[in-house]
This record gives sequence, C-alpha cells and structure tokens, in this order.
Amino acid sequence: MSHASTTAESEDSSTIDTALSTESRDDRSSRPDETVIRSSGLDVYYGEDQALDGIDMEIPARKVTALIGPSGCGKSTFLRSINRMNDLIDVARVDGDLYFRRKNVYDADVDPVALRRKIGMVFQKPNPFPKSIRDNVAYGLRVQGKTDDVDGRIEEALRGAALWDEVEDRLGESGLELSGGQQQRLCIARAIATDPEVILMDEPASALDPVATAKIEDLIEDLAREYTVVIVTHNMQQAARISDKTAVFLTGGNLVEFGDTNEVFSNPENDRVEDYITGKFG
Ligand SMILES: Nc1ncnc2c1ncn2[C@@H]1O[C@H](COP(=O)(O)OP(=O)(O)O)[C@@H](O)[C@H]1O
Ligand SMILES: [Mg+2]
Repeated sequence: MSHASTTAESEDSSTIDTALSTESRDDRSSRPDETVIRSSGLDVYYGEDQALDGIDMEIPARKVTALIGPSGCGKSTFLRSINRMNDLIDVARVDGDLYFRRKNVYDADVDPVALRRKIGMVFQKPNPFPKSIRDNVAYGLRVQGKTDDVDGRIEEALRGAALWDEVEDRLGESGLELSGGQQQRLCIARAIATDPEVILMDEPASALDPVATAKIEDLIEDLAREYTVVIVTHNMQQAARISDKTAVFLTGGNLVEFGDTNEVFSNPENDRVEDYITGKFG
C-alpha cells in the first residue's frame, strides 16, 4: 500500500519534470540560442493595480538577459512571474502566458516547487540558512534527490559558484560567518545544486561592496556558459558589462525595448529609453 503510493508520487513528479524539461543537459548545450523562456501578453496585477502590461519577451538559452528600468516599473514582478514566486503574494494575479520551453508554467499540472528547482532564484540580500556551509549546499542536493557522492557534488557546486577555494577548509562553519559577497556566492551554489536550467537574480550585487560585486559579475558571465541567467539590475553600467540581451521596462509596467545589449545601449529605438540610458530621467 505505502509502496504503491510512493511509486505514484515519484511518477507524478517525473511527469512534471518531463513536462518542464524535454532535453538532457547535453542536448541543451548544443543549442545556445534557442528560446528558453517566452512571455506572451503577460499582465500582472496586485489587487486592482496593474504592475505589468502585456509583456512579450523571448529569453535565449545560456545568455545573460538583463532587466533594467526605474524603480517600481515591474522588473522584480516579471522575474518572479517566471518561476511563479508571485504565487506566494496573496493579492498577485497573472494573466497571459509564460512558457518554459514548450510548457506554460501556469498550466494546472505544473508543480511550482518542481518548477523552482528548474528555475532557481537568488535575491538582493544574501539569505543563506543558519547552517553550515556544507549543509546549505547539501540542502539543494537533497531537494533534487541526489544522495550519492554528496561531498563531490558539494565541491562541484561550490566550484561552480567560485567559492570553493575560499571555504574548502571550513565547510562546517556557519554560512552566516561568511562575508556578504561569499554569502551571495553560497546562495548561488545552493541554487546550482538543484541542477537548474535557469537562474533568476534580483539585484544580486546591490548589497555588496565593489570588490564583491566584481566577483559576482565575473561569476555571472561564467554561469551563462551552462545556465540561462536573467538578472534585474538598477545599475546600467552593470547591465552593459555583463549582459547579452537587455530589456528596458518603464513606468506603467511596459516593456519598451528589448534587444542585443550593444544595440540597446548604443542605438535605442525608443526616445524614452535613450533619455533613461543617458540619465535624463530615472
Ligand atoms: N507584494 C506587492 N503587493 C502590492 N504591490 C506590489 C507588490 N510588489 C510590487 N508591487 C507594486 O508593483 C509595481 C512593480 O513593482 P516591482 O516589480 O517591485 O518593480 P521594480 O522591481 O521594477 O522596482 C510597483 O508599483 C510596486 O509598488
Ligand atoms: Mg525590484
């Protein structure tokens, strides 16, 4: 009896994983330009207030896509709509479509928890668990059901987050004892450990000093070799430095420009974007 229900549960979650990801990592590596995330007519409301208005965007695989624009224009809201973090906000309501590959993430059969393993998130303020460095990363492995070669996988995730060399001798220490920049890289290691395809980052360096920020920026460029990265930043120079694609949101929750970062910064189509980028407002 209990055996039967366990089997049903694991079949359930593998169906969801199959729906969310139809290719293995090796297949993914061969097609770096394909669209991974696509929004179509995406509206988000908080109660009566509309925060996003008809967003159409195609986010390519294994590139860095930056979302920029003045405060309150909906960047975080858009980011959270990708892995359904807005579900956690009572008054939030989403209309329109958001595809992860060929799957609409708002379909009734999508498990948001499984979705968030595939589409991980890193926040502005580093939020390691009050546990050891090792356990912070092991948590990510555990939710993925990876119980073999845990030490090797922890090392791999910490190397992937460019943190291993700084912590290999102190894995048993609390994650909270690390510097802010190290904590943020630990959070990235924890996200990597769940084997995501997409990593969402909401102003991941804005609480960090310039040296720690530079390390995170280097890391983001490295991560894009393997993962699709979508980053919100209020720092236009940062967007120009590290992103391949830039999306500019302006007040009213409108996406007013989206394209190759070089183009958006050197030759924006929209006059308001030109004013924003050249610092005339915002
Ligand atoms: N949890 C929430 N409840 C109600 N309104 C919200 C909430 N989060 C954001 N908003 C509103 O939605 C709009 C877009 O916010 P946000 O996505 O945070 O913008 P940004 O990240 O570009 O600064 C703003 O008007 C903001 O006040
Ligand atoms: Mg924000």
